[in-house]
Amino acid sequence: FEREFADYHGSPHALAVTNGTHALEVALEVLGVGPGTEVIVPAFTFISSSLAAQRLGAVAVPVDVDLDTYCVDPAAVEAAITPRTKVIMPVHMAGQFADMDALDKLAADAGVALLQDAAHAHGAQWRGRRAGALGSVAAFSFQNGRLMTAGEGGAVVFPDEELRERAFLVHSCGRPRTDREYLHSTTGSNYRMSEFTAAVLRAQLTRLDEQIALREQRWPLLSSLLAEIPGVVPQATDPRTDRNPHYMAMF
Ligand SMILES: Cc1ncc(COP(=O)(O)O)c(C=O)c1O
Repeated sequence: FEREFADYHGSPHALAVTNGTHALEVALEVLGVGPGTEVIVPAFTFISSSLAAQRLGAVAVPVDVDLDTYCVDPAAVEAAITPRTKVIMPVHMAGQFADMDALDKLAADAGVALLQDAAHAHGAQWRGRRAGALGSVAAFSFQNGRLMTAGEGGAVVFPDEELRERAFLVHSCGRPRTDREYLHSTTGSNYRMSEFTAAVLRAQLTRLDEQIALREQRWPLLSSLLAEIPGVVPQATDPRTDRNPHYMAMF
């Protein structure tokens, strides 16, 4: 499953874990987040985006979102960067990418990492590339309501092997992949996905493209009907998100 999920998202490496919250925690830990550091998160998101940072002893710094896309506003991110900032965490809200061009540049200029919270963005594309092909770490959820699900589950995709191997240790009680003598090399916990969950997700992945195509076909009609209701403004699509899996109809 890890190989198939990584390939599908254009990433060289994936790690399957217990859920999306743990995916964020494992990713933040290997990106160096801990006491004395800050993680910039959108003010509008599910609580796990900030809880993951807090669980590691870091400060989650909420910043405002764009009023059209509901994704984090790069100008607000820029204003919140401090010498303690370790990670910027955009959330691709309901399948709509945050402005990855602006955020990539901000992160590179500030020398901090980007962690994409892609819990709503399986199969989404930013200018033709999926979350795993954008050069930064991305965390996914497979909880009940997700675009693909096994009841619970999560995954992290990594642009390089070293990060993935460190994450492997964190998610498997600090025990190296080849260890047979209980020589645990770091601290960690048990965030491993079960084989049964992975088997369900392999089947789910084969259905995803067809389901996304159907939602993409139906979204223009749904959003135009929603827009006719007084006071309702559907979430806008940034045209650079050239494939939106439409996890939710937000308005
Ligand atoms: C944006 C976002 N990130 C992370 C999570 C956490 O995922 P999980 O429920 O698999 O722990 C959620 C769950 O709703 C979410 O909406």
